[in-house]
Amino acid sequence: MTAGKRILGISAYYHDSAAALVVDGDIVAAAQEERFTRKKHDPGFPANAIAYCLGEGGVKPEALDYVAFYDKPLTKFDRLLETYLAYAPAGFKSFRLAMPLWLKDKLHMRRTLRQRFAAARRARLVFTDHHESHAASAFFPSPFDRAAILTIDGVGEWSTATFGVGEGNKLRLLRQLQFPHSLGLLYSAFTYYCGFKVNSGEYKLMGLAPYGQPVYQDLILKHLIHLQPDGSFWMDMEYFNYCQGLTMTNDRFHQLFGGAPRSPESMLEQRHMDLAASIQKVTEEILMRMAREVQRETQMKNLVLAGGVALNCVANGLLLREGPFEKIWIQPAAGDAGGALGAASFVWYHLMEKPRQTDGHDRQKGSLLGPRYSNDQIAQFLAEMAAPHQRYQDESELLRCVAQMMAEGKIVGWFQGRMEFGPRALGARSIIGDARNSTMQATMNLKIKFRESFRPFAPCVLQERVSDYFAMRPDQESPYMLLVAQVLEKHRVKLSEADRQKMAAAPDLRHRVNVVRSTVPAITHVDYSARVQTVDEKRHGRYYRLIKTFEQLTGCPVIVNTSFNVRGEPIVCTPQEAYRCFLATDMDALVLEDFVLRKDQMSQAVTASEREKYLAQFDLD
Ligand SMILES: [Fe+2]
Repeated sequence: MTAGKRILGISAYYHDSAAALVVDGDIVAAAQEERFTRKKHDPGFPANAIAYCLGEGGVKPEALDYVAFYDKPLTKFDRLLETYLAYAPAGFKSFRLAMPLWLKDKLHMRRTLRQRFAAARRARLVFTDHHESHAASAFFPSPFDRAAILTIDGVGEWSTATFGVGEGNKLRLLRQLQFPHSLGLLYSAFTYYCGFKVNSGEYKLMGLAPYGQPVYQDLILKHLIHLQPDGSFWMDMEYFNYCQGLTMTNDRFHQLFGGAPRSPESMLEQRHMDLAASIQKVTEEILMRMAREVQRETQMKNLVLAGGVALNCVANGLLLREGPFEKIWIQPAAGDAGGALGAASFVWYHLMEKPRQTDGHDRQKGSLLGPRYSNDQIAQFLAEMAAPHQRYQDESELLRCVAQMMAEGKIVGWFQGRMEFGPRALGARSIIGDARNSTMQATMNLKIKFRESFRPFAPCVLQERVSDYFAMRPDQESPYMLLVAQVLEKHRVKLSEADRQKMAAAPDLRHRVNVVRSTVPAITHVDYSARVQTVDEKRHGRYYRLIKTFEQLTGCPVIVNTSFNVRGEPIVCTPQEAYRCFLATDMDALVLEDFVLRKDQMSQAVTASEREKYLAQFDLD
């Protein structure tokens, strides 16, 4: 290896710990710890992710030049201490619970890093600001030479949202919103109130919104927040409990919205759908106002986004369609995992002042930055398992076989190349099927994911055909599945009167989502929206060629994609995990690189109790 500068970025101890390795500005590897420990959103020290990144780059710890940590532990400690003191003694309970970990790990981060990482003694330790890390993760890998930057999350140290400017190899944050006033935490409060898990169920709340009407929007704007024209806001903390307690909301909040929080897994009522629609609307309004202000202040044409709120792809879609920016790029690992990549990039460009060239393409490499497994490794594993399989030497033959199975309605586990960095499966660790199939949605939900099924799955569409199916321009990309767009009118189907009634009032949302509303029903939400991933050959290689083959076979350039896991399980990383998931679910086939396994050829079926055991490992998310 040449004597390049090797920078390791780390994010840890909040949620979604991760590591990233940047060598001479090139993103060599990045991965979340949860994929290795199999503990979803694992917040621990990312020892496995670090080991993987260093291994991938062929870098020994002693050869590291920098280790960059994604936030400043002392500033965060200061925020916690001040918050708890301000709310004492009511805040004592959560203070006591938070403290031990703080004292052991977080406060003495420098010492912790040095101890855990004794071999990296040559490396300089750098601590970037939490939102600086988000900002760097959004701007430096983006295709833009100059762009406005907007970061929005729950909370980092003190900031909950920041905006600024990136130019060349520098970024500058100009303004910030501060804790406890936080769009991320406001959204999470409704996530909690509607019975979903904070820091992971936000996605479900967003998926629930199309069933409701934003009837509570005015109530939220009147009582919970004071929203300014520039998108900044102040939250009335009389309604929230996250400063002093262990819950998000309090009795006053519950009274305002007509009752106690929904208990997880209980029936969803119209009220919850309306609440979801309302907070989604408020989020969009805040984001639009912020974006207009940021554009006015920075005069930039392009915008980059990061922070957990940037995963709200419905709001992103609106921002792109109606917002003041010409182009938008969003960091796919927008949550705290991406902070590891941001911190490392920040050191290379901003601190070391290395030149940054842009050529119109992003540097995220399709976010395919994780481990890959060779055909030899897979062959060996399958031999050990004595698993019946077929190996294809010829790729086009393999793809024809897979496309054929999909067209027959089969559900396929698709395991190819390097694992995705970020929460979405983008065709490397995906479960895929035919989007035209009217029962695909229900089947995938019940037989594979074992989860509530009011949300449709996401479409993957050939880039060159995106504007044939969705309300997007032909040149508009969404390679990271971070934008929502409408299914075009010409693909919608007329509803029967019975279906119309079902759509309006069926108490079980599964009946509503399963009404066929378009020629690609598996990916069409009740409001005709879809979470689009555009697939191109340069980024996605074999995955692109698979969809192309499917198109040649069926005429349809759209397939349905969901992450390769069961409910509550981190996305699979290794062939072993993929195989286990394949066996424990009703997946019809598994494709591991060049190998195809078919369920009907598997000699030993998984018993019901074995399946139960497998599923029981993972907490419901
Ligand atoms: Fe964050």
